[in-house]
Amino acid sequence: MSLSPEPLNFALVGCGAIAPTQAQALSELPALARLTHCVDLDPARAAAFAAKFPTTVASWDEVLANPRIHAIALCVPASLHARLGAAALRAGKHVIIEKPMEVSVAACTELITAQKASGRQLAIICQHRFDPASRTIHALLQKQALGRLIAADVRVAWYRTQEYYDSEPGRGTWAMCGGGCLMTQGIHTLDLLLWFCGPVHEVYARAVTVAHERIEVEDLVCATLSFANGALGNLFVSTATYPGFPARLSLHGTEGSLVLEGDELHVLALKGQPVVKGPPATSDACQVATGGTRLATEQATAGAGETNKKWGSAHREQFADFIAAIQDNRPPLVDGEAGRAAVALIQAIYQSSRSGLPVRL
Ligand SMILES: NC(=O)c1ccc[n+]([C@@H]2O[C@H](COP(=O)([O-])OP(=O)(O)OC[C@H]3O[C@@H](n4cnc5c(N)ncnc54)[C@H](O)[C@@H]3O)[C@@H](O)[C@H]2O)c1
Repeated sequence: MSLSPEPLNFALVGCGAIAPTQAQALSELPALARLTHCVDLDPARAAAFAAKFPTTVASWDEVLANPRIHAIALCVPASLHARLGAAALRAGKHVIIEKPMEVSVAACTELITAQKASGRQLAIICQHRFDPASRTIHALLQKQALGRLIAADVRVAWYRTQEYYDSEPGRGTWAMCGGGCLMTQGIHTLDLLLWFCGPVHEVYARAVTVAHERIEVEDLVCATLSFANGALGNLFVSTATYPGFPARLSLHGTEGSLVLEGDELHVLALKGQPVVKGPPATSDACQVATGGTRLATEQATAGAGETNKKWGSAHREQFADFIAAIQDNRPPLVDGEAGRAAVALIQAIYQSSRSGLPVRL
């Protein structure tokens, strides 16, 4: 990494549920980054955020025009990511955007085009790639430790109450979120699946709304996936499965299998070697989300048993990777192409469900 004399100045835009997690992550990287400004359409939210995380409250235009701000962290609803992100890139800022990258593939492409024209860096937050177990699994797969990959199974059986969907305007709508349990919650595990197994070339899926009212989007998805490398995959994602369970991703190859549960490598079984078993994923969260009041983080909205104890540290690791990418002028680990690939797969799943037919990517 090249020497960096000064930490990068960040402005955070959108002082809602995920903002404190980002502020905390940046505060843990004092040699690399400083969170100097915050922006929100709601002045009370911006003021409350600035009181907790000492920053200057600013307008969007002020942030774009300020040459001392090097990078922008976008924590606004997904449907605003392309418009704000592309404007920030055009203004010469590096941009890091919360998942999902956007609500449509076309909007993701708009961001990638703006990034390429700007010469600045663009990252999409998919923090679970930075969990130690995810990195271990990726390294094992790079070494072909499982042999030829033959199958993958993803189960994100989570739970969100009706109050969760009712507690914020726009939650559970196509326009603001671009989808339901898959686009908003399952995307984390789906991103890991793509990182581990490579691109999917065909999907066949059903997406339905089974347990919530007043939402347009799905709360249950089942899909079969055919990967370009020949492996088959099975995907189950829901926010209707009470009380909520740790996300689980199993990979099977000709030489062995592994299971990621929560953020732990739960089982590693390689032919000819003793089976390694980690602790089952447990949770400090023992309450089912009730919504209703403003929710601090996605962790606070989680059903019992879903979450892990290291919440937040993966955000810190992803910010460190983003800053290193800026300093080394190389793409971040989760770049625009990776962000778009997840959105494209999700859109193909929705298209298959609507048409009742397999969809090729
Ligand atoms: N990585 C994760 O685990 C994780 C967890 C939660 C949310 N998210 C993502 O973070 C993003 C934000 O989600 P959230 O739950 O924090 O949303 P939120 O609704 O709690 O907060 C969004 C904030 O943006 C503000 N805002 C809206 N439009 C704005 C604009 N034009 N300019 C400035 N501020 C504006 C709103 O006033 C609000 O305070 C979404 O993409 C979501 O999927 C990621």
